[in-house]
Amino acid sequence: MSTSQQVHQVQPNDLQRFVESILTANGVSSEHAEIIASGLVQADLRGVDTHGANRIPSYMERIRRKILDPTAVPEVTEATPVVASVDGKNAFGFVAADVAITRAISMARQFGIGMVSVKHSNHYGMAAWVVQRAVDADMMSLVFTNSSPALPVWGGRSKSMGVSPLACGAPGGGPAGRPFILDMAPSVAARGKVYKALRRGEKIPTDWALDGDGAPTDDPARALEGVMLPMGGPKGSGLAIMMDVFSGVLSGSAFAGDVGGPYDFTKTADVGHFIVAIKPDLFMSLDEFKERMQCLYDRVVGSEKMAGVDRIYFPGEIELLNKEKREREGIPFTEAEIANLNKEAEMVGVEKLRYA
Ligand SMILES: NC(=O)c1ccc[n+]([C@@H]2O[C@H](COP(=O)([O-])OP(=O)(O)OC[C@H]3O[C@@H](n4cnc5c(N)ncnc54)[C@H](O)[C@@H]3O)[C@@H](O)[C@H]2O)c1
Repeated sequence: MSTSQQVHQVQPNDLQRFVESILTANGVSSEHAEIIASGLVQADLRGVDTHGANRIPSYMERIRRKILDPTAVPEVTEATPVVASVDGKNAFGFVAADVAITRAISMARQFGIGMVSVKHSNHYGMAAWVVQRAVDADMMSLVFTNSSPALPVWGGRSKSMGVSPLACGAPGGGPAGRPFILDMAPSVAARGKVYKALRRGEKIPTDWALDGDGAPTDDPARALEGVMLPMGGPKGSGLAIMMDVFSGVLSGSAFAGDVGGPYDFTKTADVGHFIVAIKPDLFMSLDEFKERMQCLYDRVVGSEKMAGVDRIYFPGEIELLNKEKREREGIPFTEAEIANLNKEAEMVGVEKLRYA
């Protein structure tokens, strides 16, 4: 019997085409639609379902409310040969971040490093897709963003900082080398995991969030009325402030609690990002760098395991294994999630999502 939580498999190519068709029907150019859809599908492939295609209804609602410009083309200004700024012009965060990482990589290829500050942007989903762009070009990267208030500063109890992810990466060693990709929110869990639990009718662990009365809760709806808890106390809240310094204060975008949330349809988001690409073969050959990365990987995953642990993973490796599995088997979506996405398809008259 079919229930709203029954899971179906969606092929990545079908998902990419479906998301692109909804985006273009909502006024996005096909070039930008491909970039946005690819960022979302990569999140679903990597198992970061919180930041994948299920975000489409909220993004489309922002277009309908005219608080995100689907036609905007970000503008790049060179500050120095290794520094540029991007005015996102309220385009999709995926589009502004794509412009920024492309420019950062090209500066790094020529001068060893490229640093790009981005203002007036939007949510760019899972930061790892931006890091992956650098890794694919054999570059290291730092990828920071700020985000809407969801987390108290240490000692506080109201939302003041974003659950803003810190991401960075480096190419791995050898032909099958696993890259290093660390992509982490400074909270115990990303807020998207609470939205996912709400969507799926699941409970959440009680150490993720406080409800509106400041008490621990396992109810995702009550958690969304309260605050997400920073990981590691003052250290998590310090990292959230760091994301705001580099992405908000520095860029000229909103900061200090003024960024609009992806589910707040009353105002523009004005998100800022900070993106750096670094050429890893500045001090030695690329081959030697990769050999050293392979040595690091081997020592990390070969560490002596603590009791109860079957396997040690390199940062980003679990997501890479998910990707390999989902490329073979498809991406799982619940029936309710597919129905939600198909409402968007119906609204603009495009073909519904195919699934098995
Ligand atoms: N755009 C935004 O505003 C925004 C805001 C919040 C979160 N996000 C996204 O949400 C996603 C989820 O964030 P999160 O903090 O919940 O991620 P997470 O806790 O699932 O993972 C964080 C990092 O730890 C690594 N990791 C996890 N388990 C591991 C293990 N057993 N061994 C070794 N490494 C391990 C992962 O590879 C990852 O690099 C990220 O992609 C982030 O970019 C985006």
